[in-house]
Amino acid sequence: MNDIILGIETSCDDTAVAIVNSNGEVLSSIVSSQTDIHSQFGGIYPEFAAREHVVAIIPAVNEALKIANVKPDDLRAIAVTRGPGLIGSLLTGLHTATGLGLGWNKPVIGINHLRGHLRSVDIGKKRVKYPAIILLVSGGHTFLAYMESTTKIKLLGGTRDDSVGETYDKVGRMLGLGYPGGYAVDMLAFKGKPTIPFPRPMLNKGLEFSFSGLKSAVSRYLLYSKTVVNEDIASSFVQSVMEVLIKKSQLALKKYPSKAFVIVGGVAASRQLRTEAAKLCEKMNVELCLPPIRWATDNAAMIALAARDYLNLGISPEPEPDLRLTISDF
Ligand code: KG4
Ligand code: ZN
Repeated sequence: MNDIILGIETSCDDTAVAIVNSNGEVLSSIVSSQTDIHSQFGGIYPEFAAREHVVAIIPAVNEALKIANVKPDDLRAIAVTRGPGLIGSLLTGLHTATGLGLGWNKPVIGINHLRGHLRSVDIGKKRVKYPAIILLVSGGHTFLAYMESTTKIKLLGGTRDDSVGETYDKVGRMLGLGYPGGYAVDMLAFKGKPTIPFPRPMLNKGLEFSFSGLKSAVSRYLLYSKTVVNEDIASSFVQSVMEVLIKKSQLALKKYPSKAFVIVGGVAASRQLRTEAAKLCEKMNVELCLPPIRWATDNAAMIALAARDYLNLGISPEPEPDLRLTISDF
């Protein structure tokens, strides 16, 4: 039987389509970015995002099939993100997948975007050993979870307000670094010194996070400080985020002894986070599992890979939108 899966991901501002074979190898991966459109607003403009997906999705599907040298008939299934995300963006992907499924006579599986990120670490190569502690840090989400297997996952603690990625992006905007600012803040931090004592939110308060206060602290510092050195602000901000992420990850690893520590989501691309996580894993004697940087940010290969878990379990969620999905849901 054909075991090739076509994945579609349109939960936010990237139109992504990928084709993955039965060995988890990526035959093609298209990510059509909308950064140029949203950067003029300093953040994602949801209506524009949905409209741009409509324009980009079919050319992306055609390109993915062509690069992979795959015909619709060769597919076992179509996997599509059903949430969480922006509703207009999600609907474009879901309706496209449903239409293609009808036209090509293929099953369509609705995928939890967070489960996709979780699987991103195994794209192209199995990397994770179980049990594992997972830190998901993206533009939309931040949490720690305990994974007994690819499908048995327990949420340990999430953010009470902003995600880490959102905080990086807003600090990037305050420092005039454009949108999205995560990468630029991460890089600028290397050039400065962590001289400003920004807060370490909820540092000693269990496994939950909060980042809105830190965001405000950076904003107030920029408003009221007489001398402003952007490099030092970035460095001090990143140091504060790192301390919180590493301390809580360490706590999770102590409470739930694990073989691996996994970081996924867009902020897993952070060089600073990768370095700090490596130090933590050495100290805790666990293996650090990271997705290659290309697969840390949103892509459709992770959605196709997550679909394989679902198929193996005989679970096939409908391609219906669901904005409330958490990591423990299918
Ligand atoms: O996972 P993702 O592509 O989208 C969501 O599902 O949200 O994550 C995007 C986030 C953005 O906030 C972006 O600024 C951040 O990941 N990001 C980074 C880096 N690269 C992307 N944050 C810190 N350092 C980076 N190198
Ligand atoms: Zn994402």
